[in-house]
Amino acid sequence: MPDELLTRSGAAGDTGQEAGRPVIELADVCRDFPSQPPVRALAHVSLQVGRGDYLAIVGPSGSGKSTLLNVLGLLDRPTSGHYRLDGTETTTLREKHRTRLRGERIGFVFQSFHLLPHRSVVENVMLAEIYTAQPRAGRRGRALAALERVGLTHRVDFPPGRLSGGERQRAAIARALLGGPSLLLCDEPTGNLDSRNTEAVLGLFDELRAQGMTIVVITHEQEVSERAGRRVRITDGTLLEE
Ligand SMILES: Nc1ncnc2c1ncn2[C@@H]1O[C@H](COP(=O)(O)OP(=O)(O)O)[C@@H](O)[C@H]1O
Ligand SMILES: [Mg+2]
Repeated sequence: MPDELLTRSGAAGDTGQEAGRPVIELADVCRDFPSQPPVRALAHVSLQVGRGDYLAIVGPSGSGKSTLLNVLGLLDRPTSGHYRLDGTETTTLREKHRTRLRGERIGFVFQSFHLLPHRSVVENVMLAEIYTAQPRAGRRGRALAALERVGLTHRVDFPPGRLSGGERQRAAIARALLGGPSLLLCDEPTGNLDSRNTEAVLGLFDELRAQGMTIVVITHEQEVSERAGRRVRITDGTLLEE
């Protein structure tokens, strides 16, 4: 795809982001690992996730959850099948374009928060823009706005070490929200949290969803999957709607 086309499709408000168009369209996706013996980690997976959907992906260890998340996050490519993200077919894009699309459209939230200990909360959030085309001017203001969205205005100058687990995850979510992504991809986001902090993070997901954010959460915890409006189960690489 020519650069100018990609740039245009990357602008907010383009046709790909119109209401009604799914954020995620996976069609007959397989992912084979050429190990010995070979493994089919995803087997003919088709999935559509609409704007504002809140989807939980559940399944036992080794069933393909991380492989699916890596494909959805443009960190891995399907062996066959198609993946459209916000209307853009990604499987044929060159790596450079996939990287840009990932930076513009996807926010990642992981089990461990990956905050730098010697930077303040707001500095940690600002770091999310370093590899984007965003101008440096206004970066702090954008980070503060993201922190306001997650309810951490009173902690912006704290080092992460002085926050509770739930506050650290909220800081990580603010960082994921910084570029205004279409999709929040979360891999066991409450795996390191006690029940009170889990509840705080789930409350935040509810709020973000009410604001129209599309959220995909991989989880082992029933408490978490029950909060999502929709649940799919993956078993031996095969996806089933529940
Ligand atoms: N890089 C790889 N090479 C070979 N096999 C892999 C690789 N990554 C994952 N697998 C296999 O694919 C299957 C799904 O793995 P994964 O997606 O990590 O499962 P989950 O996240 O549900 O635990 C497993 O059988 C795993 O061993
Ligand atoms: Mg996994």
